Amino acid sequence: MDNMSFVLFGGTGDLAKRKIYPALFNLYIDNKMPEAFSIIALGRKEQSHAEFQQVVAKSLQTFSRRAANDPAVLNSFLNSIRYSSLDAGHLEDFRKLRVLVESREQELSIPGNRMFYLSVGPEFFDVIALSIKESGLGTTNGWKRLIIEKPFGRDLKSARHLNEQLSRAFDENEIYRIDHYLGKSMVQNLEILESSNPILKALWSNHHIANVQITASETVGVEERAGYYDNAGAIRDMVQNHMLQLLMMISMRLPRKSDASEVRMKKRNVMESLRPLHIDNITSNVIRGQYTAGEIQGKPVAGYTDEPNVPKSSKNDTFIALRLWIDNYFWNEVPFYIRTGKRMAEKSTRIVIEFKEPLKGQTTTSDPNLLVIEINPNEGIFIQLNKKDPLNTEKLEPMRVNFFSNEKEVPEAYENLIFDAVRGDSTFFAHWDEVELSWEYVQPILDSFEQDIIPLSYYPAGSNGPEASDQLVEADGFKWWLDK
Ligand code: BG6
Repeated sequence: MDNMSFVLFGGTGDLAKRKIYPALFNLYIDNKMPEAFSIIALGRKEQSHAEFQQVVAKSLQTFSRRAANDPAVLNSFLNSIRYSSLDAGHLEDFRKLRVLVESREQELSIPGNRMFYLSVGPEFFDVIALSIKESGLGTTNGWKRLIIEKPFGRDLKSARHLNEQLSRAFDENEIYRIDHYLGKSMVQNLEILESSNPILKALWSNHHIANVQITASETVGVEERAGYYDNAGAIRDMVQNHMLQLLMMISMRLPRKSDASEVRMKKRNVMESLRPLHIDNITSNVIRGQYTAGEIQGKPVAGYTDEPNVPKSSKNDTFIALRLWIDNYFWNEVPFYIRTGKRMAEKSTRIVIEFKEPLKGQTTTSDPNLLVIEINPNEGIFIQLNKKDPLNTEKLEPMRVNFFSNEKEVPEAYENLIFDAVRGDSTFFAHWDEVELSWEYVQPILDSFEQDIIPLSYYPAGSNGPEASDQLVEADGFKWWLDK
């Protein structure tokens, strides 16, 4: 692994404290950081290196997966950190930053490899990327890479514009767009699951699969993020990125050995095969929901429009269900259902693959076989099979064969992703093609929400979403599996 500088814009922010420093620290403990590395954190506030190192120490003590209680290890990690104040609008500050980066590179014999991580609001993405270029920070003998967080645009047009701006300073293969769902260990397992298990590979097509259900439900509400969320909605917050990435990951067909460019091509193929939504089919395939007052784990909670800073008249989507069709050789006529929402009955991200009913036409009724992939908060897989009921031989009953990971030490998404970016492996990052095609797919939904063409269905907090979402699946003769 190459020695490098890790330059973190938004170094005093919440994400940095909760996820990025803990991830770097855990990688360090696991010997997954380069031999020599320099971390430079940037924020608006003036503070000394030592003061800031103590801020990081505190964040590690609160959020790190691994205990930060060995002073020697902790101090040697903290010693790699420098802090500098920076105003993203001042090119002069970027020149000052360049001096700091270069002096640390000299001290530590780092050959000019520079990772720039933008953990900042989207309004700063282009100005920072362009200032990196203009200040000379991006001119280096080693490699340079840009890690960028979502949101990547707020519609197709703004995403394209942002991409054009970024590509003035970085090539596509230097841009690592984080979708933290792609960092989750079970998501990283999906490609292996299908491509390296013949029993699944043999069944992995429309001959045997009846439907696929992808759910990401949350019990939290809008929290303190109304300013952002009321303008984004579940469609931009979850569907355009995380949910469509899960769809691509579960439906692409990979050869056993694949690299980043192969994955990218297969994901693009999936997106290009998606049946587009338009005015005639959109209302029958898209459900838009919003939570009303209800109960979560026995506690009463407010409805969305009674949350702090949410306008009373808001029609924002806190829930989306979608029926999608992938019109290609493997998935033709298999409905894929996506569902995500806030204030639902449980926190769960899972994919359920329902197999076609083998016993149709027989008198004995049976449940379908299911393959369930639990992604979060539990990680695991189970298969639902049928067996004889010992008390009634006429009857079949389902049994579940479980595999749940007991490993407490599973790395966090950010550890996986930062490790990959440091190694230069972009397999689990969102490439521009996918981002653009996702926005293309989602754009008619954004338009129809704007024009109020899709009705807003309400659901009580603590439920599994609006009735319309159940009806979407029931219309095809199915049901959502495993609802609490
Ligand atoms: C984020 C969204 O990207 O993902 C949040 O902005 C959401 O609204 C979160 O809560 C969910 O992530 P996870 O990993 O908890 O499923």
